[in-house]
Amino acid sequence: MALFSSSTQIIPETHPMPRHVAAIMDGNGRWAKKRFLPRVAGHSRGVETVREIVRACLERGIEYLTLFAFSSENWRRPQEEVSLLMQLFVKALEQEVTKLDKNGVRLCVVGDLSLFEPRLRALVAEAQAKTATNSRLTLTIAANYGGRWDILQAMNRLSVAHPEKSGHWNEEDLAPFLSMHYAPEPDLFIRTGGEARISNFLLWQLAYTEFHFTDTLWPEFDAAALDQAIASYRRRERRFGRTSEQLLEDPHPSISSGVAEVVAGVHPDA
Ligand code: IPE
Ligand code: IPE
Ligand code: MG
Repeated sequence: MALFSSSTQIIPETHPMPRHVAAIMDGNGRWAKKRFLPRVAGHSRGVETVREIVRACLERGIEYLTLFAFSSENWRRPQEEVSLLMQLFVKALEQEVTKLDKNGVRLCVVGDLSLFEPRLRALVAEAQAKTATNSRLTLTIAANYGGRWDILQAMNRLSVAHPEKSGHWNEEDLAPFLSMHYAPEPDLFIRTGGEARISNFLLWQLAYTEFHFTDTLWPEFDAAALDQAIASYRRRERRFGRTSEQLLEDPHPSISSGVAEVVAGVHPDA
């Protein structure tokens, strides 16, 4: 049974600690360039940051961490960089999964994996199976992921599953087919590296997410920088379309009035 909820269908309960943090890990190349190192040195250092941020999320009780590792547009990079990135991904899977598993981390990979080498795909499948029952932190790596790809693959699968409802599909019909159907929508989105754009990350799921952009390059992002992002998140007033006055009167109408329910559904792949 997969549990999902939509911020446009219900008013979600908000907590001082975000349940779901999603990040675009940007700035590896510039970090390396500043040090006269090859770009791949920045990517290697970026893997260390991933380790530190996973640890920080575990310590803070964050339940979902989603990291953009490779976009569907990153194939446009020089062949050598793409191939080194794939090698790094393989190495990280080989080296980190046992420790992740010990720490109660469930690893999920989202994206179109069909273009990846069989070795990488096998490692991903193995890692997902090994950690499938862990529930302390769900770490999702978005690899060959694109927000548009995600919405389209969900629409295509929905149209096959429910042709009879064609022309009348709603959000609840689509939700179980989106690749992150197992997670609540991100509360906090972080992009390092100074760019203020989404670059085709989670387009559907970021509808009501709070955004935090920082100039810090990903290899220099650390637990203290994460805390700054969380502090910024805590200062936000999450109105979900309402007015401030309504919010003061009744911060969680979804619960007190019973208007909104969590939509529970069975995922088609489950
Ligand atoms: C992000 O860092 C990592 C990937 C996209 C794989 P970049 O490689 O984009 O670093 P910059 O933006 O060139 O500094
Ligand atoms: C976004 O970073 C993708 C990842 C971090 C995986 P890019 O560096 O590829 O984004 P653009 O090209 O600057 O928008
Ligand atoms: Mg970049």
